[in-house]
Amino acid sequence: MALPVLVTGSNGQLGNEIKKLSLTFNGLKFYFHDIDTLDITRFDELEKAFESIKPFAVVNCAAYTAVDKAESESEKAFLINADAVSNIAHCAEKFGSWVLHISTDYVFDGTHHLPYRETDYTNPLSVYGKSKLAGEKLLSEIDKMIIVRTSWLYSTFGHNIVKTIRRLALEKDTLSFVCDQIGSPTYAADLAEALMRILSQIATSPNDLSIAGIYHYANEGICSWYDFACSTVELSRLSCKVRPIETHEYPTPAKRPSFSVLNKSKIKTTFGLEIPWWKDSLAKAIEMMNLG
Ligand SMILES: NC(=O)c1ccc[n+]([C@@H]2O[C@H](COP(=O)([O-])OP(=O)(O)OC[C@H]3O[C@@H](n4cnc5c(N)ncnc54)[C@H](OP(=O)(O)O)[C@@H]3O)[C@@H](O)[C@H]2O)c1
Repeated sequence: MALPVLVTGSNGQLGNEIKKLSLTFNGLKFYFHDIDTLDITRFDELEKAFESIKPFAVVNCAAYTAVDKAESESEKAFLINADAVSNIAHCAEKFGSWVLHISTDYVFDGTHHLPYRETDYTNPLSVYGKSKLAGEKLLSEIDKMIIVRTSWLYSTFGHNIVKTIRRLALEKDTLSFVCDQIGSPTYAADLAEALMRILSQIATSPNDLSIAGIYHYANEGICSWYDFACSTVELSRLSCKVRPIETHEYPTPAKRPSFSVLNKSKIKTTFGLEIPWWKDSLAKAIEMMNLG
């Protein structure tokens, strides 16, 4: 019998990629919900969902992701990214479910010069980063939890930076992007595949708590936002120029780490993953976008 999996926040970038993959995935039965059918800030709604689905695992794709807006909506960011994660943790513990939760590279302050490991010191610079770190800590109180920190997520679904670059490149002659923030882009379709692999492994041995903990996942390779914008324009065969600027020339409400590359050794060895290079994945995503 197929094991039930509850996916929250399923209308977002990652949720949609999981939805797409689930169509060809046997062995697990997915139940997709977003805020309109399951608001994770409502404990009563969550409890009812757990009671009816009895999920063997929950993938929490629901989040408050407006990094700059969070600076003026701290309460809302913490409600969704921290308090609601605690709701999920409590229900999961009661029903014996695993929780796969997604967090961010913005839990780090960017002062490193080597890719961040899971055990490295966290020191978020923004409200968003702080709210996500608070969520991590609340979830870490239960045993059956896996937190996957990722970075610079984009997809063919929803609003994201790749679509923004492509739209602006059609409207303008020149775009400016910061060249002093370094990280790794992540195609949500690749992350969704990795999550499927993790789910399969948990399904095989649901009582093996040795794999619980924090993991890092992003596409291989590193770049600046400037490099990323150049590649997006080039792979989209657009003619707009991209100009490198420094962070101080483009002030934003939220401070972002200047270096947030994640070390992915742990997730690769634990789950036997091969992670695609960011530029190959970007090319794939753009090809899909071009197809409409
Ligand atoms: N995007 C990035 O660059 C990035 C980078 C690093 C990590 N992450 C993390 O990766 C995960 C997935 O991100 P994503 O880009 O797929 O996010 P997304 O596209 O913003 O999707 C989040 C989904 O959660 C929904 N949601 C918001 N509040 C909810 C609630 N109370 N109950 C249920 N659903 C709710 C949202 O609905 P509405 O749209 O109606 O609010 C949206 O459909 C998140 O945990 C995020 O923090 C993202």
